[in-house]
Amino acid sequence: MDISSKLEDALRSAGQEHLLRYWNELSCDEQRELAGQLEKIDFAALPELIRDYVLNRPKTAIPDDLGPAPYFPLVPRSDAERALYGRAEQKGRELLRAGRVCCLTVAGGQGTRLGFDGPKGTYPIGPVTGRTLFEYFAQNIIRAGKKYGHKLSWYIMTSALNHAATVDFFRKNGWFGLQEEQIFFFTQGTMPAIGYDGKLLLAGRHTLSLSPDGHGGTLLALRKSGALDRMKKEGADIISYFQVDNPLVHVVDPLFIGMHALEQSEMSAVMLSKTGPFEKLGNFCVSGGRLRIIEYSDLPAELAEKRGRDGKLAFVAGSPAIHLIQREFVEELTASGSLRLPWHRADKKIPHIDGNGEQVTPEEPNGVKLESFIFDALPLARKTMVMEFDRKEVFAPTKNKTGVDSVESCRQMLVDRDAKRLEAAGVTIPRKADGTPDALIEISPLEVLDAEDAQTLASAKNIVIAPGEKVVL
Ligand code: UTP
Repeated sequence: MDISSKLEDALRSAGQEHLLRYWNELSCDEQRELAGQLEKIDFAALPELIRDYVLNRPKTAIPDDLGPAPYFPLVPRSDAERALYGRAEQKGRELLRAGRVCCLTVAGGQGTRLGFDGPKGTYPIGPVTGRTLFEYFAQNIIRAGKKYGHKLSWYIMTSALNHAATVDFFRKNGWFGLQEEQIFFFTQGTMPAIGYDGKLLLAGRHTLSLSPDGHGGTLLALRKSGALDRMKKEGADIISYFQVDNPLVHVVDPLFIGMHALEQSEMSAVMLSKTGPFEKLGNFCVSGGRLRIIEYSDLPAELAEKRGRDGKLAFVAGSPAIHLIQREFVEELTASGSLRLPWHRADKKIPHIDGNGEQVTPEEPNGVKLESFIFDALPLARKTMVMEFDRKEVFAPTKNKTGVDSVESCRQMLVDRDAKRLEAAGVTIPRKADGTPDALIEISPLEVLDAEDAQTLASAKNIVIAPGEKVVL
């Protein structure tokens, strides 16, 4: 098979003709596969992309008018605010009952830090039972559907690398008790990996080195996959967005949803008070009247350490990547069939084949992967809303095997949260000298969605927990 002259010209003018080095040695099927991958790349835009992001290091410009973002605090500050929170929670419940909300989990990441062989959502995180991340969400989604009398649809974004394994896992587990039609899997786009010399890398003779295009790819993938149309048909206009590695998240939160609606927000965000100036969370900021997130690595130290008159960090609002997104907002952003969010550069060790067809497994970073981030859509929204939540209630990221944001810390937080809920419902929890629960407790997310459910559970059963016990409820 001959390569099309249009594609060949495009490669030549972008300085990427090395990608055809093995063309004549390939079988017809292999040629077709490579041509298919190449046709998806915008070679006209590539030289500028390589100049700005690979050959040069992009710098995030910090605007002069950058200030901390306003937010609704965890505890209302006045009677008027308390009444507003009450109205918001009621509104959220109404919207849930009316089926206006759907869930979206981004699960297309590669989870390299966890080093787990398989999609991250299949990781057994349950402290006692080892129930998987996906199972936590699925069971909470079922419970929420029962509680609000309207089944929730669940949109799950995968990548080309983990799609088949993810769907297979759900099928083998009977969709975790959900109806198959409640779940909609869709696959995000990819970006080619680029070597430090500005040349795209080949993973094999007939395959490019491709990786998922970042969670910012969600927006376009929602359109391309038909997910937006499906949501519209179902009558869902608020998307509850969360990451696959946070089993503590409220899959839907009535207060957050209601405030999003009352504020007529197009994109809302949960915020946590940072534990220190340099905690590795994106910082909620405003500039030119627009909400934006500045990554922890980009916020200048003098701003990160700045404190208000009350001694609190000025830029105290950190992002756990939990959002509500208005479906119409995504429709508008992607109406042209494309969406340009800024790229973020990550230096990586990228396995590839060299000019002799030899496999290379680098020990040091040798190139760049480019990703777009969902939070870069915030400044594009006309109206946004940020609301503070208690970290212990909503955020237990599973990024690493041990240490900070790890399997260990996540399991501990799950136990702490369940223990706290039971205690609030009148159950005695044995505690160690340091105050942590002296028992491994795991409450089924199928039974308990919130504090109210925990109260019901505690009233229905005589729960007695002995020191050191493993308890599954
Ligand atoms: P992370 O930034 O933690 O990346 O993703 P990761 O790929 O999962 O893990 P590392 O950095 O390789 O260790 C945060 C969330 O965004 C999703 C992930 O699945 C996770 O839920 N994500 C990330 C995507 O869906 N697609 C991407 O391209 C990147």
